[in-house]
Amino acid sequence: MKTLAHFFTSSVGRKFLMAGSGGLLFLFVVGHLLGNLQIFLPPENINAYAKYLQTHPALLWPVRLALLALLGIHVWAAATLTRENRAARPVGYWGRPAPYGATLSSRTMMVSGLALGAFVIYHLLHYTVVVEGISGAQVSLRALKAQHDVYAMMVAGFSVWYVSLFYILGVGALCMHLGHGLGAMFQSLGWKNATYGPCLDRAARVVALLIFLGYASIPVAVLCGHGQNYLQQVVQRVGAASVPAPSK
Ligand code: HEM
Repeated sequence: MKTLAHFFTSSVGRKFLMAGSGGLLFLFVVGHLLGNLQIFLPPENINAYAKYLQTHPALLWPVRLALLALLGIHVWAAATLTRENRAARPVGYWGRPAPYGATLSSRTMMVSGLALGAFVIYHLLHYTVVVEGISGAQVSLRALKAQHDVYAMMVAGFSVWYVSLFYILGVGALCMHLGHGLGAMFQSLGWKNATYGPCLDRAARVVALLIFLGYASIPVAVLCGHGQNYLQQVVQRVGAASVPAPSK
């Protein structure tokens, strides 16, 4: 037990934890994307999926807590390893700042990771907690969610151009983070060698780009008119009383 604790607090152990937690978070990102891409199917599909999740707290809460724990481990390992790297070599050889290598890549990972963190906080307030004041939408997202109409909620949310732009920038940060992070994960797990290493790095960048295109396609499609007819029908059917404009 003591040996295990010692391993997971050593720098090799923390790299392993960072890679493992990052890999599991990546699986969530892929699953979440596949769930969200149902917006390109008839509305019943994504609404049934969201309703199932929302009405099964025994399934939802363990997943939420696991995601939170994985995020905590990932951020803790990244922050402590970066701090130690900096302390070990605050300036490069010959007294110049170290220009390349681990310091630069960890710095871009920190910046994209922090931007991603800010995006996820906004995203949770927007669609999970549903704080109306930050949505800028013409109809109440809360009322749409209460009717388990996640399709209409997403269309109404992304009809606001600056919200869509923020999402595209947020998933851009995710793409940058994954483009480097997946390659680093293969390295930390010892799956890279001279033959496969460059190929795995390229594959990581391609996967990150596909994830970006998948997520970004949703706000872009809504801005191009996808789902607007359906949203109008919902607003007419349930009436302005059920779907009021958010208070300014
Ligand atoms: C265009 C991009 C995205 C769309 C359209 C989207 C859509 C949604 C929606 C509609 C919900 C609320 C589900 C519900 O409560 O019924 C949600 C929740 C969530 N999203 Fe996203 N999402 C996007 C990107 C992301 C990204 C990039 C991440 C993480 C890196 C992420 C992480 C989460 C998390 C953690 C939740 C909370 C799940 C829960 O309720 O426990 N999302 N998303």
